[in-house]
Amino acid sequence: MPKRSASPELPLAAETSGKFAALYGALRQAIAENRLPAGARLPSSRDLAAQQRVARGTVVAVFEQLAADGFLESRAGAGTFVRAGMNRNGRRPRPSARGALVVEPVVASPFLEHRQEARPFRTNVPAADLFPRAAWARIAGRHWRRAPSELLESEDPRGLPALRTALAEHLATTRGVRCSVDNIVITPSTQASLDLIARVVLSPKDTVWVEDPGYVGARALLRQAGATVVPVPVDTQGMAVDGLSSARPPRLIHVTPAHQSPLGVTLSLPRRQALLQHARRANALVFEDDYDGEFRFGTRPLAALQSMDHDGRVVHAGSFSKTLLPSLRLAYMVVPDGLIDAVTALLSLTLRFVSPHDQAVLAAFMAEGHFARHMRRLRDAYAARHAMLRSECERLLRDIVSFEAPAAGLDGVAWLPRRWSDTRTARRLAGDAVEARPLSQYRLARGGAPGLVLGVAAFDEAAIRLAVGRMAATLTRIAKEDAAR
Ligand SMILES: Cc1ncc(COP(=O)(O)O)c(C=O)c1O
Repeated sequence: MPKRSASPELPLAAETSGKFAALYGALRQAIAENRLPAGARLPSSRDLAAQQRVARGTVVAVFEQLAADGFLESRAGAGTFVRAGMNRNGRRPRPSARGALVVEPVVASPFLEHRQEARPFRTNVPAADLFPRAAWARIAGRHWRRAPSELLESEDPRGLPALRTALAEHLATTRGVRCSVDNIVITPSTQASLDLIARVVLSPKDTVWVEDPGYVGARALLRQAGATVVPVPVDTQGMAVDGLSSARPPRLIHVTPAHQSPLGVTLSLPRRQALLQHARRANALVFEDDYDGEFRFGTRPLAALQSMDHDGRVVHAGSFSKTLLPSLRLAYMVVPDGLIDAVTALLSLTLRFVSPHDQAVLAAFMAEGHFARHMRRLRDAYAARHAMLRSECERLLRDIVSFEAPAAGLDGVAWLPRRWSDTRTARRLAGDAVEARPLSQYRLARGGAPGLVLGVAAFDEAAIRLAVGRMAATLTRIAKEDAAR
């Protein structure tokens, strides 16, 4: 018998068309499926050869190969047996109850859907066409030519001091964030920042307050983390914590103060004070998700909620996913003193660190003024894109939708007639090559006015005009059907 490799693929590949392969495969499958359970004795090679109408030598070769692969063992004088532990037995590793939550419809990750190229009005995607490739490439080229060897070996989990320093300055001047460089950690995304915080502060079943309607990504992550997610209604002043009973005090509160996701309202000053007061009373941590707060049109960006925090209970989290590109995987979080050690240690165990090279390029990009310039350019472009959406909706859809240009951000909400289902409307639009996210997808409580969340940032004005045309045709058809009913 020639010596065979331990891997079944090699001998099988050599003999695929033969009876050897057929018998080998059939026996292996029978073992895997437990039709031949552990300890079962196989027929003798002579009997099996007669039964299968193959040469006895083929059966012997198959037995030898299955023994070499660990599926069978022969015991002298007793026969050939299935070895223990080779059956699948329905006991293949599966996600735990908590692991399985992540694929349940109630949790539903929103990040699995976007596999095709973005079409208008995909939400939450920035203008990749405006990314300053030349400046970035120039700095990246210089970085790789000159990077000192310490940087090639750097693995600081908190991130590169140069980037953290640039961020501390930027956040202090633009958003009033109060922190030192030591409070800043670099992560790949806001989602990763929230994950770190959830792991550090939450125990299973702890209560977390989230906005309703609110950001699906945060909700999904918090549920998967085992938290009890309690919806807090959002009105024109943002998250309305006042009416909430303190029966289940929160341990963590997720909020988007600068530009509520998805309604686009700003958390008012009295609400900010109320929120911090509730958090203080419950000794809760507040996660300020500042995903697109830098894009405020007409006025300067607002002061961060963190700037009003006097007792270290607000984490300010931001990301370059919207200001530069989501594919860069660069974000940051301003962590209160009491949590820095735990967050840093956990980061070092899980993500370990973000590429120091991308961080170095970004630090130089900021220090040389490119970031501020790019932000000005984006703000102008987004304001123009929002204006185009609003004027085209006004021109073509005045009788059907009401649309207000948001004061900030990448997305806006088009409100539909009260009787309409936003889910069905979004489905009809998808059939006409228009992407729109139904507002009901963001809601936890039943009811609420129907609307469509429309993203404009990634599309130029011509594309927006065309897409509003297609959207108007679909919505006008739906309105006629509705009237005829
Ligand atoms: C409210 C909100 N928070 C966080 C994120 C995620 O940001 P990141 O890509 O940095 O995880 C998004 C992305 O769309 C968002 O809308």
